[in-house]
Amino acid sequence: MMKNVTDLIKEHGAPIVLVGMMGTGKTHFGRLLSQALRLNYYDTDTLVEAKAGCSISEIFERWGEEKFRDVEAKTIQDHLQKGPCVISTGGGALMNAETADAIFDGSLSIWVDAPLDIILQRVAKNRNRPLLACENPRDVLQELMKKREPSYRRAIFKISSGVVPSEDALDTVIKDIKHYLIQAEAKTEQV
Ligand code: S3P
Repeated sequence: MMKNVTDLIKEHGAPIVLVGMMGTGKTHFGRLLSQALRLNYYDTDTLVEAKAGCSISEIFERWGEEKFRDVEAKTIQDHLQKGPCVISTGGGALMNAETADAIFDGSLSIWVDAPLDIILQRVAKNRNRPLLACENPRDVLQELMKKREPSYRRAIFKISSGVVPSEDALDTVIKDIKHYLIQAEAKTEQV
């Protein structure tokens, strides 16, 4: 009998991890994916806030970005051990080289990408992004994107957010994951 994609993911054993710039919709797609695949969902920004007992902006203000990055890295490493589930990460998480390697070696990674103008519209509505609390968020975003894109590109899969309806983007990435896992399984059987 044909296996469904959730069975294939469970057999594969690794979590699905969403990476990409802030405002691209990692949380939105992470939730949708976890519902469609019936897997647990974790958002590392929310987990870090829960650990600290305050918002990300407050963490930056009280303890600085470095402290935030330490807790973020530890939270991601812990959750990568959880087996099949869906994890959304903060946009800067991959700037830690160990975190990036752990994600790309040990998960079904998805880069959620969106055009800069869409990101800007989305982040304008949200005050909880301390790196963009400045006069020129467009320049800051552009600069961050330039620095981070080579890391995001290491992901196995990609979702183009804000370009087609979410349901279509979701269907496409689920098909891509299924295709990838079927091929991976066939390769293992050949050996
Ligand atoms: C950050 C992105 C945020 C959050 C923090 C720093 C970044 O997460 O982790 O404000 O460096 O890009 P989202 O990508 O979920 O907005």
